[in-house]
Amino acid sequence: MNQKLKTSIAFARNLFVTGAISETSRAVEVDICKNIPKEGSPVIVEFGMGHGNITRQILESLPPKGKIYAFEVKSSFCEVVREAIKDERLIIVNDGAETISQHVEGPIHAVISSIPFSFFGKEKGEKIIQDSYDLLEKDHFFSQVLYTKHNFKKFQRVFEDCKMTSNKNMFTEYIYHCKKLKSTHMVNCE
Ligand SMILES: C[S@@+](CC[C@H](N)C(=O)[O-])C[C@H]1O[C@@H](n2cnc3c(N)ncnc32)[C@H](O)[C@@H]1O
Repeated sequence: MNQKLKTSIAFARNLFVTGAISETSRAVEVDICKNIPKEGSPVIVEFGMGHGNITRQILESLPPKGKIYAFEVKSSFCEVVREAIKDERLIIVNDGAETISQHVEGPIHAVISSIPFSFFGKEKGEKIIQDSYDLLEKDHFFSQVLYTKHNFKKFQRVFEDCKMTSNKNMFTEYIYHCKKLKSTHMVNCE
Protein backbone atom coordinates (compact mmCIF):
# COMPACT_ATOMS: atom_id res chain seq x y z
CA MET A 1 0.00 0.00 0.00
CA ASN A 2 1.46 3.41 -0.88
CA GLN A 3 2.05 6.08 1.79
CA LYS A 4 -0.68 8.47 0.53
CA LEU A 5 -3.31 5.72 0.81
CA LYS A 6 -2.06 4.70 4.29
CA THR A 7 -2.34 8.36 5.37
CA SER A 8 -5.88 8.69 3.99
CA ILE A 9 -6.96 5.56 5.88
CA ALA A 10 -5.40 6.84 9.12
CA PHE A 11 -7.06 10.27 8.67
CA ALA A 12 -10.48 8.74 7.88
CA ARG A 13 -10.27 6.42 10.93
CA ASN A 14 -9.66 9.49 13.11
CA LEU A 15 -12.00 11.86 11.28
CA PHE A 16 -13.19 13.74 14.37
CA VAL A 17 -9.59 14.65 15.24
CA THR A 18 -8.17 15.14 11.76
CA GLY A 19 -11.16 16.80 10.05
CA ALA A 20 -9.94 15.41 6.71
CA ILE A 21 -9.83 12.23 4.65
CA SER A 22 -6.65 13.11 2.77
CA GLU A 23 -3.58 15.30 3.02
CA THR A 24 -3.68 18.89 1.79
CA SER A 25 -2.76 19.34 -1.88
CA ARG A 26 0.72 20.04 -3.21
CA ALA A 27 -0.35 23.59 -4.20
CA VAL A 28 -1.35 24.31 -0.59
CA GLU A 29 1.87 22.81 0.82
CA VAL A 30 3.80 25.36 -1.25
CA ASP A 31 1.47 28.36 -0.76
CA ILE A 32 1.17 27.98 3.01
CA CYS A 33 4.98 28.07 3.40
CA LYS A 34 5.55 31.20 1.31
CA ASN A 35 5.98 33.55 4.30
CA ILE A 36 8.71 31.55 6.05
CA PRO A 37 11.79 33.78 6.48
CA LYS A 38 14.57 32.66 4.12
CA GLU A 39 17.53 33.86 6.21
CA GLY A 40 18.85 33.85 9.78
CA SER A 41 17.60 31.42 12.42
CA PRO A 42 13.81 31.63 12.32
CA VAL A 43 11.61 29.67 14.72
CA ILE A 44 8.58 28.15 12.98
CA VAL A 45 5.58 26.53 14.67
CA GLU A 46 3.47 23.97 12.83
CA PHE A 47 0.02 22.95 14.13
CA GLY A 48 -1.40 19.59 12.93
CA MET A 49 1.68 17.83 11.55
CA GLY A 50 -0.28 14.71 10.52
CA HIS A 51 2.08 12.44 8.53
CA GLY A 52 4.43 15.36 7.81
CA ASN A 53 3.65 16.50 4.25
CA ILE A 54 3.69 20.24 5.12
CA THR A 55 6.52 19.62 7.61
CA ARG A 56 8.72 18.45 4.71
CA GLN A 57 7.93 21.62 2.76
CA ILE A 58 8.69 23.79 5.82
CA LEU A 59 12.07 22.05 6.20
CA GLU A 60 12.79 22.65 2.52
CA SER A 61 12.11 26.39 2.92
CA LEU A 62 13.88 26.73 6.27
CA PRO A 63 17.47 28.10 6.54
CA PRO A 64 20.05 25.70 8.08
CA LYS A 65 19.97 27.45 11.48
CA GLY A 66 16.18 27.59 11.72
CA LYS A 67 14.00 25.27 13.76
CA ILE A 68 10.44 24.02 13.72
CA TYR A 69 8.21 22.98 16.60
CA ALA A 70 5.61 20.65 15.05
CA PHE A 71 2.50 20.07 17.23
CA GLU A 72 0.40 16.94 16.75
CA VAL A 73 -2.16 15.43 19.17
CA LYS A 74 -2.08 11.87 17.80
CA SER A 75 0.94 10.00 19.13
CA SER A 76 0.74 7.42 16.30
CA PHE A 77 1.18 10.25 13.74
CA CYS A 78 4.18 11.55 15.71
CA GLU A 79 5.73 8.07 15.51
CA VAL A 80 5.27 7.94 11.72
CA VAL A 81 7.06 11.27 11.29
CA ARG A 82 9.81 10.40 13.80
CA GLU A 83 10.60 7.35 11.67
CA ALA A 84 10.31 9.11 8.30
CA ILE A 85 12.00 12.48 8.84
CA LYS A 86 15.46 12.70 10.36
CA ASP A 87 16.32 16.38 10.64
CA GLU A 88 17.89 18.12 13.64
CA ARG A 89 15.85 21.26 12.99
CA LEU A 90 12.57 19.40 13.68
CA ILE A 91 11.19 19.24 17.24
CA ILE A 92 8.03 17.13 17.44
CA VAL A 93 5.59 18.14 20.19
CA ASN A 94 2.97 15.47 20.95
CA ASP A 95 0.46 17.97 22.35
CA GLY A 96 -2.32 20.31 21.26
CA ALA A 97 -1.85 23.71 19.62
CA GLU A 98 -3.66 25.22 22.61
CA THR A 99 -0.55 24.45 24.75
CA ILE A 100 1.84 26.45 22.55
CA SER A 101 2.87 28.82 25.35
CA GLN A 102 3.93 25.85 27.53
CA HIS A 103 6.36 24.55 24.89
CA VAL A 104 7.62 27.57 22.94
CA GLU A 105 9.13 30.68 24.47
CA GLY A 106 9.06 32.99 21.44
CA PRO A 107 9.48 35.15 19.57
CA ILE A 108 8.39 32.97 16.66
CA HIS A 109 8.63 33.86 12.96
CA ALA A 110 5.75 31.92 11.35
CA VAL A 111 2.84 29.68 12.30
CA ILE A 112 1.82 27.13 9.67
CA SER A 113 -1.41 25.41 10.59
CA SER A 114 -3.74 22.75 9.18
CA ILE A 115 -5.69 21.96 12.38
CA PRO A 116 -9.50 21.63 12.03
CA PHE A 117 -10.64 24.91 13.66
CA SER A 118 -14.29 24.21 12.78
CA PHE A 119 -14.24 21.25 15.23
CA PHE A 120 -13.02 23.36 18.17
CA GLY A 121 -15.12 25.21 20.74
CA LYS A 122 -15.02 29.03 20.64
CA GLU A 123 -12.71 29.33 23.66
CA LYS A 124 -10.12 26.83 22.40
CA GLY A 125 -10.01 28.37 18.91
CA GLU A 126 -9.63 31.89 20.28
CA LYS A 127 -6.88 30.81 22.69
CA ILE A 128 -4.84 29.22 19.89
CA ILE A 129 -5.07 32.37 17.75
CA GLN A 130 -4.39 34.82 20.60
CA ASP A 131 -1.48 32.86 22.15
CA SER A 132 0.12 32.47 18.70
CA TYR A 133 -0.31 36.20 18.00
CA ASP A 134 1.34 37.06 21.33
CA LEU A 135 4.37 34.87 20.55
CA LEU A 136 4.77 36.01 16.93
CA GLU A 137 7.26 38.71 16.06
CA LYS A 138 5.86 41.86 14.42
CA ASP A 139 5.54 41.67 10.60
CA HIS A 140 5.32 37.87 10.63
CA PHE A 141 2.49 35.52 9.63
CA PHE A 142 0.04 32.92 10.91
CA SER A 143 -0.99 30.86 7.83
CA GLN A 144 -3.93 28.47 8.11
CA VAL A 145 -5.54 26.06 5.63
CA LEU A 146 -9.22 25.08 6.02
CA TYR A 147 -12.07 23.77 3.88
CA THR A 148 -14.23 26.75 4.86
CA LYS A 149 -14.12 30.56 4.90
CA HIS A 150 -16.15 30.66 8.12
CA ASN A 151 -13.24 30.91 10.55
CA PHE A 152 -11.64 33.88 8.77
CA LYS A 153 -13.42 36.40 11.06
CA LYS A 154 -11.84 34.83 14.17
CA PHE A 155 -8.41 35.63 12.73
CA GLN A 156 -9.45 39.13 11.62
CA ARG A 157 -10.46 39.94 15.21
CA VAL A 158 -6.85 39.38 16.36
CA PHE A 159 -4.56 40.00 13.35
CA GLU A 160 -4.33 43.46 11.80
CA ASP A 161 -3.82 42.29 8.19
CA CYS A 162 -5.56 39.14 6.89
CA LYS A 163 -5.81 37.86 3.32
CA MET A 164 -7.47 34.71 1.98
CA THR A 165 -6.55 32.69 -1.13
CA SER A 166 -8.21 29.52 -2.40
CA ASN A 167 -7.23 26.38 -4.25
CA LYS A 168 -9.70 24.14 -6.09
CA ASN A 169 -9.00 20.55 -5.10
CA MET A 170 -11.38 17.66 -4.26
CA PHE A 171 -12.81 20.17 -1.74
CA THR A 172 -11.91 23.87 -2.07
CA GLU A 173 -9.01 24.66 0.24
CA TYR A 174 -8.89 28.17 1.72
CA ILE A 175 -5.59 29.55 2.96
CA TYR A 176 -5.64 32.46 5.42
CA HIS A 177 -2.44 34.51 5.61
CA CYS A 178 -2.64 36.72 8.71
CA LYS A 179 0.07 39.25 9.49
CA LYS A 180 0.84 40.79 12.86
CA LEU A 181 1.59 44.51 12.52
CA LYS A 182 2.03 45.57 16.15
CA SER A 183 4.92 44.82 18.46
CA THR A 184 4.01 43.04 21.71
CA HIS A 185 7.47 41.94 22.84
CA MET A 186 9.14 43.84 25.69
CA VAL A 187 12.38 45.60 24.81
CA ASN A 188 14.94 45.47 27.60
CA CYS A 189 16.29 49.06 27.95
CA GLU A 190 18.81 48.44 30.78
C1 LIG B 1 -6.37 18.09 8.31
S1 LIG B 1 -5.12 17.18 9.17
C2 LIG B 1 -3.70 17.96 8.40
C3 LIG B 1 -2.53 17.06 8.31
C4 LIG B 1 -1.40 17.54 7.40
N1 LIG B 1 -0.64 18.62 7.99
C5 LIG B 1 -1.93 17.99 6.05
O1 LIG B 1 -1.78 19.16 5.72
O2 LIG B 1 -2.50 17.18 5.33
C6 LIG B 1 -5.18 17.94 10.78
C7 LIG B 1 -4.18 17.41 11.78
O3 LIG B 1 -4.29 18.17 12.99
C8 LIG B 1 -4.20 17.29 14.11
N2 LIG B 1 -4.85 18.00 15.23
C9 LIG B 1 -6.16 18.06 15.55
N3 LIG B 1 -6.36 18.86 16.62
C10 LIG B 1 -5.13 19.33 16.99
C11 LIG B 1 -4.67 20.21 18.00
N4 LIG B 1 -5.50 20.77 18.88
N5 LIG B 1 -3.34 20.47 18.06
C12 LIG B 1 -2.47 19.90 17.20
N6 LIG B 1 -2.83 19.05 16.22
C13 LIG B 1 -4.16 18.76 16.11
C14 LIG B 1 -4.89 16.03 13.62
O4 LIG B 1 -4.53 14.89 14.38
C15 LIG B 1 -4.39 15.96 12.18
O5 LIG B 1 -3.16 15.29 12.08
